[in-house]
Amino acid sequence: MRPSILPFVLAMPALVWAQAPAQPARPQAARQEKPKGPWMDKSLGPDQRADMLVGQMTLDEKIQLVHGVGWGALRPGSPVPPGSNQGAGFVPGIERLGIPAVNLADSAVGVRMGALESRYSTLLPSTLGLAASFDPEAGYLYGSVIGRELRDQGYNMSIGGGVDLVREPRNGRNFEYAGEDPVLAGTMAGQLMKGLQAQQVMGDIKHYAFNDQETGRNILNVVMDKRTMRETDLLAFEIALKIAEPSGVMCSYNKVNGDYACENDYLLNQVLKKDFGFKGWVLSDWGGTHSTTKAAMNGLDQEMPGDRYFGADLKKAVESEEVPEARLNDMVHRILRSMFAAGVIDNPPVRRVVDPFRGLEDAQHIAEESIVLLKNAGGVLPLDAGRVASIALIGSHADVGVLSGGGSAQVDPPGGDAVTHLPGAARWMQPVWFPSSPLKQIRERAPLATVEYDDGTDSAAAAKLARASQVAIVFVNQYMSEGRDAATLALPGNQDALVSAVAAANPRTIVVIESGGPVSMPWVGEVKGVLEAWYPGIGGAQALAAILFGDVNPSAKLPVTFAASDGDLPHPQVPGIDLVKPGQRPPAFDVNYTEGLKVGYKWFEAEHKQPLFAFGYGLSYTTFAYSDLKADGSRRTVSFSVKNTGRRAGTDVAQVYVMLPPAADEPFRRLVAWQRVQLEAGESKTVSLKLNPVYLSIFNVRNNAWELLGGEYRALVGPLTAGFRVE
Ligand code: BGC
Repeated sequence: MRPSILPFVLAMPALVWAQAPAQPARPQAARQEKPKGPWMDKSLGPDQRADMLVGQMTLDEKIQLVHGVGWGALRPGSPVPPGSNQGAGFVPGIERLGIPAVNLADSAVGVRMGALESRYSTLLPSTLGLAASFDPEAGYLYGSVIGRELRDQGYNMSIGGGVDLVREPRNGRNFEYAGEDPVLAGTMAGQLMKGLQAQQVMGDIKHYAFNDQETGRNILNVVMDKRTMRETDLLAFEIALKIAEPSGVMCSYNKVNGDYACENDYLLNQVLKKDFGFKGWVLSDWGGTHSTTKAAMNGLDQEMPGDRYFGADLKKAVESEEVPEARLNDMVHRILRSMFAAGVIDNPPVRRVVDPFRGLEDAQHIAEESIVLLKNAGGVLPLDAGRVASIALIGSHADVGVLSGGGSAQVDPPGGDAVTHLPGAARWMQPVWFPSSPLKQIRERAPLATVEYDDGTDSAAAAKLARASQVAIVFVNQYMSEGRDAATLALPGNQDALVSAVAAANPRTIVVIESGGPVSMPWVGEVKGVLEAWYPGIGGAQALAAILFGDVNPSAKLPVTFAASDGDLPHPQVPGIDLVKPGQRPPAFDVNYTEGLKVGYKWFEAEHKQPLFAFGYGLSYTTFAYSDLKADGSRRTVSFSVKNTGRRAGTDVAQVYVMLPPAADEPFRRLVAWQRVQLEAGESKTVSLKLNPVYLSIFNVRNNAWELLGGEYRALVGPLTAGFRVE
């Protein structure tokens, strides 16, 4: 079944040529001079080394560093520069000074565009799935896989690292982001980038800021007050930046309070560079630069790709002193100091063959921690391989593969698409299935059972197979991609009807969802089991089989709220979706986030709405109980005991939420800390967690600072609550 989506595509003139295949000619690798000069003294700090270099550079050389090439060529028809890897971006180096080129690759969930040069990249589970693990170590591992493979492919910079909050659950890019909570998202994205940069490649965090929907992303204007900004998406960025200190921050396409994000003084100068102390450089999203002087003065450091604003025009602006040369020096300094700090000058990447087996192992491990068990009525799961005689596997090409997310996060499938068998690079916005076959893995895991597959296109045929089997597993999917949003939370096509038909035919029906984010489930009361698998990556089928048969006890929790229907969301319809018509340039529009601080679960709680599945929810094959909750306001600690009260070993994700005093005017809980706790059957552990005062604070706009209010707070862990006082 081909998933049909009801989205729109907003053509982006600036990117149309850029997304086309790059020049076919394979460039010769540039002959890199052995770096020389006093700035190569490793005992000096990155800022000092960068200053020395800037002092040696001509105006033209500086201008050369502040813009780059996209997908191989500066503009259609121009040659591929030597040394370019033909990835999303390339900034030529300066040989005379030993400054290497910057080769940038999209790499949100694995390195993109591998097929161009027959290179293999590991497809990891979607970042949203990673966030579901609530496991910072898995985040670090995730980043290290990408960093390793970037180096192996000759790239020295990633432009992954999406951390925009999931405030619009139908946003096409939610699978590239890390959920709706700023502390969770910032922590996971930060760990990911830290792991990536530990491989000595430069990292990036994007899309700064509030690119929270794809509908109209190039023309919409986000309207939001400062406190909301600082306590929601900007807090996620702040946390990630502190953890990872990435080289780059990519500013987004949209406007924020009237100014494009890439020329927004408040976002770039005041918050990012001053308040967050960001030392790296701001690069524009592809085609997201809109001016020369305004952008330069308001904080943009590099136009990507092309030289429309930061080429000859910037040179002129510097010569006429409209842009002080000191500002250009600052842009260049930021780029060079990041290259030194990341190690790409001292230890440049050396190409070698990617190890797909190591990637698979890591991807499977992360997938096992990312798949959320949402329903398990009557203990239908795990399946007993020794006892189940027949399994009907239905839908979503589960015979051959797992779905992946589209757009610039798309990784190329090894050996071509598992369904269409189309070889080579993935096509823009076309669903791509990776060769990780649930059918094969389930057959291997249950050798005594008959496992048959039906493609689900005909509900009656699927129901017939289900009726003749002991267990039915229906795979459903929602294909999502950059450049468009889903019009609704409903699964596309006839999938809801398919699930109902199968559930009516077999009382032991289990649904496996492969989706970009939350979906609605009108059939949830009809089925026994539900697993949310996100886009599970190249080890997805293995991970699913391990969970279905209980080799792995699921531990993941939802990093996003699943609403029962679109009507329960702050915006029942994606803002502006009715204004955008295929093939027409839509009028600019405002997205007014009137819900303010009530993003995700905070909305549901404050508005007393019952979600289908709440943020933080996820079942295990065992059960856990909490006791002895103690909270200490002066030491800002929380401690409690967790006991595994079931019969299997398992890992709980113990989550600590806090309610602020009434003076905060925030009538909802906040996630402030959590810990994964591994417990044998019957085992108990005491967990003590230190609370970060920022996570307990509100943002005081008048003082432009976080403020920890004095008063009565409440800590909530599972069903327990404990009051504590902050003086
Ligand atoms: C996306 C970015 C991406 C860039 C380069 C843009 O369309 O928004 O996330 O990094 O293209 O491919």
